[in-house]
Amino acid sequence: MNRIVVVLLFLGLYAYSSASAGRDLPGDHLRLPSEASRFFGRVGGAVDDKEDDSSGIRWAVLIAGSNGYWNYRHQADICHAYQLLRQGGLKDENIVVFMYDDIAFNEENPRPGVIINKPDGHDVYNGVPKDYTGDDVTVDNFFAVLLGNRTAITGGSGKVVDSGPNDHIFVYYSDHGGPGVLGMPTNPFLYAEDLIEVLKKKHASGTYKSLVFYLEACESGSIFEGLLPEGLNIYATTAANAEESSWGTYCPGDNPSPPPEYETCLGDLYSVAWMEDSDIHNMRTETLHQQYELVKTRTASENYAYGSHVMQYGDIDLSKNNLFVYIGTNPANDNYTYIDENFLRPSKKAINQRDADLVHFWDKFRKAPEGSPRKVEAQKQFVEAMSHRMHVDESVKLIGKLLFGIEKGPKVLNNVRPAGQPLVDDWGSLKTLVRTFETHCGSLSQYGMKHMRAFANICNAGILKEQMADASAQACVSFPSGPWSSLHKGFSA
Ligand SMILES: *[C@@H]1O[C@H](CO)[C@@H](O)[C@H](O)[C@H]1NC(C)=O
Ligand SMILES: *[C@@H]1O[C@H](CO)[C@@H](O)[C@H](O)[C@H]1NC(C)=O
Repeated sequence: MNRIVVVLLFLGLYAYSSASAGRDLPGDHLRLPSEASRFFGRVGGAVDDKEDDSSGIRWAVLIAGSNGYWNYRHQADICHAYQLLRQGGLKDENIVVFMYDDIAFNEENPRPGVIINKPDGHDVYNGVPKDYTGDDVTVDNFFAVLLGNRTAITGGSGKVVDSGPNDHIFVYYSDHGGPGVLGMPTNPFLYAEDLIEVLKKKHASGTYKSLVFYLEACESGSIFEGLLPEGLNIYATTAANAEESSWGTYCPGDNPSPPPEYETCLGDLYSVAWMEDSDIHNMRTETLHQQYELVKTRTASENYAYGSHVMQYGDIDLSKNNLFVYIGTNPANDNYTYIDENFLRPSKKAINQRDADLVHFWDKFRKAPEGSPRKVEAQKQFVEAMSHRMHVDESVKLIGKLLFGIEKGPKVLNNVRPAGQPLVDDWGSLKTLVRTFETHCGSLSQYGMKHMRAFANICNAGILKEQMADASAQACVSFPSGPWSSLHKGFSA
């Protein structure tokens, strides 16, 4: 092993073991750092069922924005949601599923053809429709599906949300994100403003009565904060506020942890919170608001050391609707009335979304026999991920200093706008700056999305493309040749 490898592995061991020890994080743990250098009955307000049953169809769009076995949990979440909706009575023709579909038969999967979403969980993969898989999981297809525009679809099953004015739509997305951005297994990523424009367009087309959006991602609050107006009949909740990570759960080393043969997290904290609640209750007796409160408590995970702040946006009034209106209800739960207490066990621990890939590579490395090809491969994957992280962190920091000076640079980059304000004023310029950066410094990738606030602040400061190009060229003489930095999939913006 050369020296850098030894150092990187040591850092990984340190990071992982200190997380496993359940060490108390310092007081500022709300801004969860993952800098490579530091760590690697009927309830009031119920909607009349009869009216909804007779006059509206329930539609759902489910989307996992990632691929790769280390992201097992996002596709597991989506499959689980599909099973829940089917048991709730939604029809296949009304559920559109986006998932890369590289998990069930992945060579790393200890149970081929099976996906579970909790340690003692049963298979959630069987029967999931493969509407949009592989490279058909794109921003454009997602938007076209929401808008019900078949001619705009490329590949896939062609299924779209062909909804009418009395229909209800449920959208659930699970993946990595960053300020103002959500990941996709393909490039480009999904930018907040584009999503909001699509939602406005859908509203203007008069093709739904109300829409509920559940969003799991890091900094997911930033997708709606200051951007989603009231009056569109949209109610959104997010796993995290605009400036913090969201969390994977049922990870190796957690309590409860996955079966020992799983070297990956099985679910995400916010996601399993809403689904495990919905799995067991009569949805006619639980409102969106009640679920929001319950999920908020569970996702906060005691003192936020391993949790995040669940947020709500848009037409909050809609949250007095029963969940039944959107996700139906499983007849087997008819006698399980929701009662106002959180009897779900909060997780003791969870893994920062951004570090879940490292947990996978590390667990794989740790368990592989000494001298085996598997050990060598895990080590290579770990080192590649770490080199990419360090490269991105360092180059963004340096660009800030080059543009604004050594002292002011970090301040400008880390500035957080007051609540209620969008991340950036000009999203077009933000994308231009990201592409300029990537031209010189390589792809941001999944991990690099965390720096979107820095790019937004550079943009808000009025920096032009040419200045960005100069600074990026100076900061990045070269970039790592590993898969994370590669531009072969195109720009992320
Ligand atoms: C549907 O998509 C096509 C192709 O992108 C576009 O030309 C058309 O205007 C869209 N239709 C509607 C109703 O938005
Ligand atoms: C609910 O309880 C009633 C009365 O005890 C019973 O007849 C019915 O079978 C139960 N339903 C379910 C789905 O268990």
